[in-house]
Amino acid sequence: MGVLCNVVDKKSYIVVQFVNKGHKGGATMKVLNFGSLNLDYTYSVEHIVREGETISSNGMAMNLGGKGFNQSVAMSRAGIPVYHAGLVGEEGLVFFDACETYGIKTDYIKTVTGRCGHTIIQVDSSGQNCIVLFGGANQKNSKEYVDEVLSHFEAGDIIVLQNEINELPYIIDRAFSIGMTIVLNPSPLDDKIDECDLGKVSVFILNETEGEQLTGENTPSGIIQSMQANYSNAKIVLTLGKSGSIYHHGDEELYQPAFEVKAVDTTAAGDTFTGFFIAGLLKKMPMRDVLLMATKASALAVQKNGAAQSVPFMSEVELFEG
Ligand code: RIB
Repeated sequence: MGVLCNVVDKKSYIVVQFVNKGHKGGATMKVLNFGSLNLDYTYSVEHIVREGETISSNGMAMNLGGKGFNQSVAMSRAGIPVYHAGLVGEEGLVFFDACETYGIKTDYIKTVTGRCGHTIIQVDSSGQNCIVLFGGANQKNSKEYVDEVLSHFEAGDIIVLQNEINELPYIIDRAFSIGMTIVLNPSPLDDKIDECDLGKVSVFILNETEGEQLTGENTPSGIIQSMQANYSNAKIVLTLGKSGSIYHHGDEELYQPAFEVKAVDTTAAGDTFTGFFIAGLLKKMPMRDVLLMATKASALAVQKNGAAQSVPFMSEVELFEG
């Protein structure tokens, strides 16, 4: 692990004081996840198809996913009540039923004309995947819709965002002006992120590839240093796949190794980590326990097929010993 970065493990438990800019007094803060909802068409293949190649798949399934939806499922399963906002197309009614099953509030999910966001996912025999994304309804957000959703939230509430929907810069600006705390998983990272005012983000959760794209640095320590220099007040979580994850905020830096498990499908493992991490943060758990819980949850997720359906229950996470 030490080859990857210089990590200071303070071993002491520090209770997270979540930045609460609000005026909520004793009132309960609300959590809004404004994010994508995708129908995932997943094909099992021996290997990921190469350029010019045609291969047969060993099986196919239609699963419910989208980074936004998966993260809402993870937060909900980790015990955090969550409102999901986002758009589905004409074939997206299935998401309303699923939200009910997963305990996600659907007040702000809207149906629009046209197709749902969807993906074509190949999962190879070692559980690794590649994804082609079609934005569909996820790219039809309007400023009016954003304003309508955000009018139900106030200072001190939390907003969780990814980069699979349009109007992300506007959502960040509006949420910040309300005084909401912004948690951003800038995934999948593309040029659109450059339009966002990332100085308004309180918590970043990103992987090594995204970290490199965002900072130009190609080592974990370089990425962390650059993120810290640019966003000095933000909490930063850098996930490193099989090499674990790093948490950094101010003078505190923690490293959490990953668990060695046999992966059957890595889809939504990152979303599971993100959802459980946010849940631990909001519950004000000691940061070392937050990282451990999120790591256990994602280790369980890779052992199941599919996206949202692979997110474990809290009871499974509590029993998991690696
Ligand atoms: O992170 C996994 C998710 O990415 C999948 O569910 C797919 O919909 C894509 O958005």
